Amino acid sequence: MASVVSPAAEGRRPASASAHPLDPLTPAEIGAAAAAVKAERGLGPDARFVYVSLYEPTKHEVIAFEQGGSAPERQAKVVVRERAERATYEGIVVLAEDPATVASWRRVPGVQPSVMPEEFLAAENLVRGDPRWQDAMRRRGVTDFGNTMIDPWSSPNTAPGLGPGDGRFLRPLTWVMSDEDDNGYAHPVEGLITLIDLDTMTVVEVEDHGAVPIPERPANYSARGITDPENVPHFPAGPRRDVKPLDITQPDGPSFTVDGYHLRWQKWDLRIGFTPREGLVLHRISYDTRSIIHRASLSEMFVPYGDPSPTQYRKLVLDEGEYGIGLMTNSLELGCDCLGEIRYLDGVVNDNDGNAVTMPNAICLHEEDHGIAWKHVNFRNGYTEVRRMRRMVISSIVTVGNYEYAYYWYLYQDGSLQYEVKLTGVISNGVVADGEDPRHGTVVAPGVYGPNHQHFFNVRLDMAVDGASNRVYEVTPTALPEGPGNPVGNAWVTEEALIENEDQARRDADPLRGRYWKIANDGVRNALGQPVAYKLVPEHTIAPFARPGSVVAERAAFISHPLWVTAYDRDEMFATGDYPNQSAGGGGLPAYVAKGRGLVDTDVVLWFTFGTNHVVRPEDWPVMPVHPIGFRLLPVGFFAGNPALDNPPPAGDHCHNH
Ligand code: NI
Repeated sequence: MASVVSPAAEGRRPASASAHPLDPLTPAEIGAAAAAVKAERGLGPDARFVYVSLYEPTKHEVIAFEQGGSAPERQAKVVVRERAERATYEGIVVLAEDPATVASWRRVPGVQPSVMPEEFLAAENLVRGDPRWQDAMRRRGVTDFGNTMIDPWSSPNTAPGLGPGDGRFLRPLTWVMSDEDDNGYAHPVEGLITLIDLDTMTVVEVEDHGAVPIPERPANYSARGITDPENVPHFPAGPRRDVKPLDITQPDGPSFTVDGYHLRWQKWDLRIGFTPREGLVLHRISYDTRSIIHRASLSEMFVPYGDPSPTQYRKLVLDEGEYGIGLMTNSLELGCDCLGEIRYLDGVVNDNDGNAVTMPNAICLHEEDHGIAWKHVNFRNGYTEVRRMRRMVISSIVTVGNYEYAYYWYLYQDGSLQYEVKLTGVISNGVVADGEDPRHGTVVAPGVYGPNHQHFFNVRLDMAVDGASNRVYEVTPTALPEGPGNPVGNAWVTEEALIENEDQARRDADPLRGRYWKIANDGVRNALGQPVAYKLVPEHTIAPFARPGSVVAERAAFISHPLWVTAYDRDEMFATGDYPNQSAGGGGLPAYVAKGRGLVDTDVVLWFTFGTNHVVRPEDWPVMPVHPIGFRLLPVGFFAGNPALDNPPPAGDHCHNH
């Protein structure tokens, strides 16, 4: 992590023209919020700041401000863990006043906030110092405890006594490195599971299911620091030498402008946000001054493993809700993570003392050529018109233990949007006896297997298609029955079912028929008289394998249906609710839709889940080639024609019209 910015080092928020109510908290504001809580709430010496983030104004307040009204009051939401009390507190701090003041504060019973970064590191040393763990490692022939990796896997509520009111738990697993540059994931320690209590910083339990030999074969993906080529078995000859330079040059600079957190690119206009829990957030997305989305964010991730062995079955991680992906965001490198004319935005988050931490280059902005936008050849005379497509890319990358997740929002010149997650990093693995074929996974190296698992991503889309009065249709292409309307059997139509209320708001995909969901504004018509709309095109929906009613299914109920729709509520932000860590479930979407609110011609929020069944391939080892998944949002009647018709003809002699 990056340097700590002292709250005193920066002044109060400058009244710059770019300041907007949705701008992330500044370092000064984070410091002021924490100071107010410390001063007014008499925190104990063991109190820790989990999150200090912007408490966003309501959609109504933001729109009023943009229409020339006064700025809503700046507020911060603060979550504190009082370790000595074993209690969680949350509250709202008003930043507009100097000094900031605590407007509300309450103890939240029976919950565990996210695991804090400082707890990861403390857990590693705690486990290394435990005599039971040390004995178990000696039984496996390991005596150099310093060269071990203790990954902070969360502790799901899989047995009595592990609930959020029973303790603040983590269930780390162990790997071994030959030296500090070695890829330790090549050497998993099977059957050794520790349970620690983070409030008391004690090892509660060490489970040892029997010493299994630790795989010894190295699996390094880089030669950095490694002198013996045997230790980089996958490319002993070094990097390939037949790759010539490919430079992206934009001599006149990029076509986008960034002013603070305000991004403008051709007809697109939006604001960038960043929170410690969600990382990258987009706000106020509009095209040609017409609004499309008020707020777009990743609301949760879930990675359940499908292997019942003791080391694997508790790998049921809610990576966002249990850890906070904003806190794990990478500082990106010029020309490495993005290519071309790049602009970066920093991420500002809190540390656990309540100080601001600036994460340099957390968000990357750049544009890419994306092949052709459209083309037609008049075959009679050869006259050709072709246009290229360009896209605006807004991205960030996080490291969650062994995995990397790279998040991309793409804006296109034809008014469409795309969200993509690229999965990469190192698989979390286990040990298998030589020559054995693991039933629940794939061998990737001698003695090492990758267990079957699923990755789910839930994106919250607070829609505003030409304003806040929207409705959602489920559209299912359907063949017509035989009869007078279908005499030769070719006819099909689209069946549109209006989602009227939250009782109907859990929807399933139908990939073979190509079902999609349409978010329409019935009060705004295009030039053809059709209601303006966008459609959500699901591209990577999967069924959960968690048995209904199981701990796995309950803790992440959002995976039971790819689409949920709710009425807008500023406090309904996360598919698994505010406190999913160790929760038995029930929070988030199941609680939101239980309100039974109407969804017609109102302010609607879509919650879409996509994912992938990760059946590990040998090619995923030792580091996984990126695996992209996601979805698209396409205008459907939002325009009355191709919005990219005015893309300029390509420059240069090599592709002029004939
Ligand atoms: Ni995976």
